[in-house]
Amino acid sequence: MPPPHQQLALLPRPTRVSRRSGHFVLDPHTRVHADSGAQEAADLLRALLRPATGLSLGPSPDGRIVLALDPALSGLGEEGYGLTVGPDALLLRAARPAGLLHGVQTIRQLLPPAALGSAPVRRTRWELPCVQITDTPRLARRGFMIDVARHFQPVEWLHHLTDLLALHKLNVLQLHLTDDQGWRLPVADYPLLTEIGGHRAESAGDGVPHGGSYTTEELRALVAYAAARGVTVVPEIEMPGHARAALAAYPELGNHPSVRHEVWTRWGVCENVFGVHDATLDFCRTVLDEVMDAFPSRYVHLGGDECPKAEWYTSPSALERVREAGLPGPEALHTWFMGQVGDHLVEHGRHPLGWTESGEDLPESFTVLPWRDADHGHVAARRGHDVIMAPYRTSYFDYPQSDHPAEPPGQPGLLTLRDVYEAEAVPTSWEAPAARHVLGVQAQLWSEYAPTPAHLEYLAFPRLTALAERGWSARRDWDGFALRLDHHQERLDALGVRGRRWTATATPPPGEETA
Ligand code: ACM
Repeated sequence: MPPPHQQLALLPRPTRVSRRSGHFVLDPHTRVHADSGAQEAADLLRALLRPATGLSLGPSPDGRIVLALDPALSGLGEEGYGLTVGPDALLLRAARPAGLLHGVQTIRQLLPPAALGSAPVRRTRWELPCVQITDTPRLARRGFMIDVARHFQPVEWLHHLTDLLALHKLNVLQLHLTDDQGWRLPVADYPLLTEIGGHRAESAGDGVPHGGSYTTEELRALVAYAAARGVTVVPEIEMPGHARAALAAYPELGNHPSVRHEVWTRWGVCENVFGVHDATLDFCRTVLDEVMDAFPSRYVHLGGDECPKAEWYTSPSALERVREAGLPGPEALHTWFMGQVGDHLVEHGRHPLGWTESGEDLPESFTVLPWRDADHGHVAARRGHDVIMAPYRTSYFDYPQSDHPAEPPGQPGLLTLRDVYEAEAVPTSWEAPAARHVLGVQAQLWSEYAPTPAHLEYLAFPRLTALAERGWSARRDWDGFALRLDHHQERLDALGVRGRRWTATATPPPGEETA
């Protein structure tokens, strides 16, 4: 007989599960008693279950579902929870609200998959197996980055994506909002950022114009929607490289203001980068002020990757900056610049994130995401940086997930579901003090090759389920995961997820999956 967690097919796998006999029944008479700290979780439970089940789960002091904050569970940390499902009562407790929100997702997974969807199901009795669960994540940050700069995505889809992150107890949605090919975020003092920077003439020679941007109201609403699900939206504003869309809107931010640029229509690394003169730094601070206003997240991502330095070697103002700041040469302007913008966040009580390409290229105040080599994270951790592991070999979802010829186009390479699952969240070769600097893991979905939500979902799922378990579960086991994912596929189906289809015995070719 398979172990209990496989029968329940909970994903990510909880820390401790013991199955009890019997069932708890939800029906139109079921009421919820939530204490004052648990109202948000009760609201989420209702919002998630109502569309399919039609159950109102209204409030009542003697409700058989009890949701409560309980300091006695503080040993389970910020996000842990305890769930007891008995024949007569369901009790969800956590020391902190985030734990209750994760527990709600577990309750949801204990129900039949049809309960998860948005299509009403004709049924008045819904059964959950009796069970005792104690659950707490291995790593505090479990994230997903979506690139809405290369291809703009409708905000409604970002809500759907947020729901899917929450289902898997992922707690960070990083929005890659700006890049060479598009600027998606309005900034009141700089309206051309979206008016000009939000549109490009074509993409890699396809002759098709592409564009779009969000309103501040849409972004605020997304932040609130995500927060109600235990997901923090982390904005990413690229600087000083990957800035061509901003330079197209405001050439004076660049190194050669008399040169006019189009929003970039190619992919790759663009050599046009921000200047390092005061006006550009003031611009960056103004943008970050608006970003901090719209996004309450403790962390703000400032990019920092793939910044060619060539323009700084010929720009009089950059060379003047080298002299004035006492730097050894233009190469050093990158770290200097990141320090300036990072300090602005720190002065406002926020914390800068940045992509590291060596482990030594970002100022001390940064928490770093090594995207090239996992070893760069080791170098950074030894220098005292906190680290969120994001190396491309195990966390870039723009690589195809099989070598089947019918896979949709992607970056040349391969990243299978099993590769994602089996990668070490924290490399075992790191000494303990360095390993303690690893705050979490993050998958990246760059969108050069994936213009639509359907493409993006196909690339994200089911690999994101593997990433979720890598970040949440202390003990991993591929065979058990594969079996649980078989059942979990029904949940994804109920939610209309257009992922690559998974069966534990065989993975059908993509042509059949998308038919
Ligand atoms: C990156 O892939 N340039 C972060």
